[in-house]
Amino acid sequence: MTIWPAHGSWWPEFAGREAISHNGRVDTLTKTLAVAPMIDWTDRHCRALHRRIAPRVRLYTEMIVADAILYGKRDRLLCFDAAEHPVALQLGGCDPAKLAAAARIGVDYGYDEINLNCGCPSDRVREGAFGACLMVRPQVVAEAVAAMIAAVPASVPVTVKCRLGIDDRDDREFLEDFITQVANAGCGTFVVHARQAILGGLSPKENRDIPPLRPAEVWQLKRSFPHLQIILNGGLKSVAQVLEHLPQVDGVMLGREAYHRPYVLAELEQALWNAPPPPSEEEMAAWLAEYTAGHVAAGGRVHDVARHALGLFAGKPGARAWRRYLSEHSNRHDVTPRVFAHAAQVARQLVAG
Ligand SMILES: Cc1cc2nc3c(=O)[nH]c(=O)nc-3n(C[C@H](O)[C@H](O)[C@H](O)COP(=O)(O)O)c2cc1C
Repeated sequence: MTIWPAHGSWWPEFAGREAISHNGRVDTLTKTLAVAPMIDWTDRHCRALHRRIAPRVRLYTEMIVADAILYGKRDRLLCFDAAEHPVALQLGGCDPAKLAAAARIGVDYGYDEINLNCGCPSDRVREGAFGACLMVRPQVVAEAVAAMIAAVPASVPVTVKCRLGIDDRDDREFLEDFITQVANAGCGTFVVHARQAILGGLSPKENRDIPPLRPAEVWQLKRSFPHLQIILNGGLKSVAQVLEHLPQVDGVMLGREAYHRPYVLAELEQALWNAPPPPSEEEMAAWLAEYTAGHVAAGGRVHDVARHALGLFAGKPGARAWRRYLSEHSNRHDVTPRVFAHAAQVARQLVAG
């Protein structure tokens, strides 16, 4: 069974820490903090930005369909910067042989973990018979997990991201049976989005908001399977919230909040691991300019990076000015990477004024 290594052993420069939540002290050394896989959002540029702000958080790719890896433009889909480590490749698919082949390729590209998507509720994914609807086919998931584990080195964990249930299959027995079958195939880590998926009638976006969050059921899962790593996902936005959950689970995964307010990751790293202060917004703007210059020199566009940076000042003075300046300028044909420095100046001047 492959379980994530405790982060403490990878990042000796960070001290483990006891943080205090309202229900007691939390030993945070071995807890995991992750940014969720998000299609169209967590591409390599987004991950590079997150990594710059939070050196220790575990990053995920967008879901990449196994067929795309096998038959598509592999380098474009899979290349990433060494600075992004640790980074997990999330796969979509249901064919064990194809998933195993895609996992192997992912390892060859250097990914630190292979994750199987069993939580995505979109129609497109449903037609391909993978994503959340795989939860009603635990034997297929088990087969796929076993095939992927056989295809990758033992040092690379094969993990699963799922929901609490789907449609009317949404009770503890159903979830525990799914987890049991998949764990028996060798999966040691489950990321659980703490709500059910409703496959008919709700859009993917509605499926992230409308079914109520039920984190206590993820806590229960950890109690039922103490030997597994159980990571809680869904609706987490603050250090205080995360500290409430951490005593009950092995880690947390943040999606939308991390995207819209990336400094939440630094706040969490500081609270959990005593991490040094992150680069300031101005330092980040300077880094973004340098990073984007490299991307542009390689044939990319400023907008490819800028679209992920709109939330850099979120919650801080100047946030609107930064966002507006970047959105208005980053798509212009004559834009240069200096746009980040200009946007930061505009944001700060407004504050000073
Ligand atoms: C734009 C967007 C794209 C997403 N794409 C994926 C995906 O590719 N794979 C996946 O497992 N979940 C995907 N999700 C779901 C997130 O990983 C996460 O489970 C969900 O947003 C709940 O976490 P949050 O409340 O912290 O955002 C996506 C979410 C968003 C907002």
